[in-house]
Amino acid sequence: MSYQSGRTPKGPEPPRRSSTSGGVDPATIKKHYEDLADSYDEFLYWSPDFVGKMADKIVDMLDLQPDDTLVDIGGGTGMYSLALLERVELTNPVTVVDPFPEMLARIPEDAPIVPVAAEAVEFSAGAPGCSKVLMKEAIHHVGNKSELIGNLYDRLDPGGRVLLVHVDPHQVQYPLFDAALDNARNSFADPDELIRILDSAGFEPRRDELAYHHEVPTGHYHRMVERRYMSILTSLPEEQLTAGLDEMRARDQGTDTLRFTETFSYVLGTKTR
Ligand SMILES: C[S@@+](CC[C@H](N)C(=O)[O-])C[C@H]1O[C@@H](n2cnc3c(N)ncnc32)[C@H](O)[C@@H]1O
Repeated sequence: MSYQSGRTPKGPEPPRRSSTSGGVDPATIKKHYEDLADSYDEFLYWSPDFVGKMADKIVDMLDLQPDDTLVDIGGGTGMYSLALLERVELTNPVTVVDPFPEMLARIPEDAPIVPVAAEAVEFSAGAPGCSKVLMKEAIHHVGNKSELIGNLYDRLDPGGRVLLVHVDPHQVQYPLFDAALDNARNSFADPDELIRILDSAGFEPRRDELAYHHEVPTGHYHRMVERRYMSILTSLPEEQLTAGLDEMRARDQGTDTLRFTETFSYVLGTKTR
């Protein structure tokens, strides 16, 4: 299935960003996604095999069914909502929530997706009911995770599920440089903490993981780093990024392909009552 690119998000203007942001400060996150929006899919799609394997596991853990109402919070350009729609013919459109209209604008206009420009916690406080919620690589941007998860518990139907997919900070292995790796370890959400938050909110938590072995042309990966493809790179001072890239170029000289493993934790909460 293919969709026409480009759409204008509906919904309220992005709210002021208050206390709700993870390790990296809100102004940096805003700048990061506004600057990256046009290149996001080029850099973060990696490969059809990667997105396919990630999406298959999401379908499986969410137990996604055609009559589900799915909300994709921090859904960005809709990359994973589109992959899920290819796998399960949902009767209802997917709601993709993201604070940055620049990201939502990349969602194909004719896709069965309703884009909503809103920050996660503020959306969750007034969200309509739904049966399944996905947050892929977005929970680390949310400061008050307990408030978000508590609100989602209230909004979910009985039997509903929330799935938090995230790079495991304990298993970070990018071919980067020390300052960037330290930033990643300190910024990504700890799966054990997410389990505790889900448990306290009343969910039955379960955890799994997916380790994917990337093979990326060296020059392409260096360009991704130069363009600060992750927010943990945007938060580094210019000199540190330049020095890190010099280090990478020296280390990777004569290497055509970079091979590394990205390990995602899949943390599921089921509302059993
Ligand atoms: C790494 S991207 C992941 C996008 C998409 N889920 C994917 O996997 O392709 C993180 C997304 O979270 C969004 N985001 C940042 N802060 C957020 C917040 N406080 N609430 C909701 N989404 C947020 C960003 O705009 C961005 O689209």
